[in-house]
Amino acid sequence: MNWPTELIGQKMRRNLVVGNWKMHGNMQSNQLLLNRLIKGLSGFKNADYVVCVPSPYLFQARLLLENTNIAWGGQNVNQHEQGAFTGAVAANMLTDLGCTYVILGHSERRNLFYENNLTAAARFDAAIKAGLTPIMCVGETVAERDAGLTEVIVAGQMDAVLASLGDKEFAKAMELNMVFAYEPVWAIGSGKTASPEQAQSVHQFIRHRIARRNAEAASKVRIIYGGSVKAANAEELFTMPDVDGGLIGGASLNADEFEAICQVANSLQASTCLAE
Ligand code: 13P
Repeated sequence: MNWPTELIGQKMRRNLVVGNWKMHGNMQSNQLLLNRLIKGLSGFKNADYVVCVPSPYLFQARLLLENTNIAWGGQNVNQHEQGAFTGAVAANMLTDLGCTYVILGHSERRNLFYENNLTAAARFDAAIKAGLTPIMCVGETVAERDAGLTEVIVAGQMDAVLASLGDKEFAKAMELNMVFAYEPVWAIGSGKTASPEQAQSVHQFIRHRIARRNAEAASKVRIIYGGSVKAANAEELFTMPDVDGGLIGGASLNADEFEAICQVANSLQASTCLAE
């Protein structure tokens, strides 16, 4: 394809900002936060915005967010379609509540709830079967980084998912605009953000890993960064060539901060990318 010359070398992917509320919120605070975001983000047309709320509040999210430019999603999904799995949430339950996205393989799920590469791959498969856009999280611990193992760990996490997808499933995942999120464990909730260069280096590695499977797909997949993203550091991160937005924890619970991060994604897109 021939891109206009002014766009060569510029990012062609639409930025994506996802709020991961984790286990926070109640009916009243959610309503306040969502109503502020609906207003604040309504003019931001150049990027995509999602909030992933705790399951009990998905119905509330749907009531408030339907017909706005903010999508909603789950924070995990079980690999089984249905059955005797107390406490688990099936992919079709998320789509039933209007979810279009789901976070998978978050480090808190891996570390606190004993999920692993195999179950992450199975959950990915269940999500795409149901038509959900998976946001697959990968990232190393500080000990792994210090030991020089970042790429080994991230490759293992990526390959577990990619290898589990047959050609048909890979095509389906691309149709659903699958997303990868690089979340270094040491940057999550710690206030220690990865430097833009550190993030770029791993994002580029992730893209190359996908390119081994399908180069065209790799150029289209959005890879977002998570780990202590705030309004103050969003711009330096999102301007890196392989960083296509952010997965935001703590700052997504604060309407002003989240709006400011979304504004960065929106205005960078307007200045460097073709809006869809
Ligand atoms: P923080 O933004 O609070 O560091 O959390 C990042 C995260 O885990 C998002 O999924």
